[in-house]
Amino acid sequence: MREFKFINFNKGKNYYLIEINRPDQLNAINKETIKELKDCFLSIKNSTKGFYGVIITGSGDKSFVAGADISEFKGLNEKTAKELSLNGHELFHIIENFSIPVIALVNGYALGGGCELALCCHIRIATKNAKFSQPEINLGTIPGYGGTQRLPQIIGKGRALEMMVTAEMTNAETALQYGLVNYVLDNKDDAMKKSTELIDIIQRKAPGAVAGVIESINNFYRGDDDGFGKEIQIFSKLCGADDFKEGVRAFQEKRCPSFKGK
Ligand code: COA
Repeated sequence: MREFKFINFNKGKNYYLIEINRPDQLNAINKETIKELKDCFLSIKNSTKGFYGVIITGSGDKSFVAGADISEFKGLNEKTAKELSLNGHELFHIIENFSIPVIALVNGYALGGGCELALCCHIRIATKNAKFSQPEINLGTIPGYGGTQRLPQIIGKGRALEMMVTAEMTNAETALQYGLVNYVLDNKDDAMKKSTELIDIIQRKAPGAVAGVIESINNFYRGDDDGFGKEIQIFSKLCGADDFKEGVRAFQEKRCPSFKGK
């Protein structure tokens, strides 16, 4: 496995595990971490055979990611801030459009860029000490890694706006009530167990259909695209594939389907 400086990258039995590891900065993501994450996701993009999910988490129990690295904010100007923002957007776009589900296992603080990282993942599973916030307003700016777009998509405009203008922390219980997370578990081990259980379920599905769900749902949120048209296109393509024939045959023969990813 490739070695990185700020992330630990490992393979589980049927999933990839990425752990952001900057404990002295509560796993805040600096430019290099963003580059490493990008390299890591691109390196596995074409190696998803036998892998049915990616779990991304922060090292330790205190923090998922405490935001962008604020020490890199000093001296930013309009030009360099735009570069920083575009760089984060590019990574989060890669994650959001990944062909296998990416699960954010949120252990502790998910602040600023950390909350935005969780938002671009497909599923969020939190430990009960998780805390979400978009505190950029306290620095005199707004979220720059897609938060103003994805947070309202997930929890609605009113709640997202309140979180961004107050910078207040949202605890795990409220996050669950908002639909910001899918599950809250007692601790990191339990959250890991839940994540791998979901990946085991996904393993039994047709990979093309899983990727199709991600692509079609993402289309809904792209204002300039015809989401319904895209759904028709993906649905019909999948229905012409071997896995669909196997799925229908298995139903009629009252057995579990054996999908081949074709
Ligand atoms: N960027 C860089 N360093 C960060 C960081 C960030 N986003 N968040 C925390 N750290 C560093 C702190 O500077 C501190 O380093 P030090 O020991 O060298 O002083 C270390 O992580 C531990 O943080 P500390 O503040 O001492 O821990 P705490 O338990 O008292 O508070 C937080 C935890 C998360 C509430 C607090 O660190 C915080 O508010 N961080 C900034 C969050 C933020 O605004 N993120 C969005 C940025 S856009």
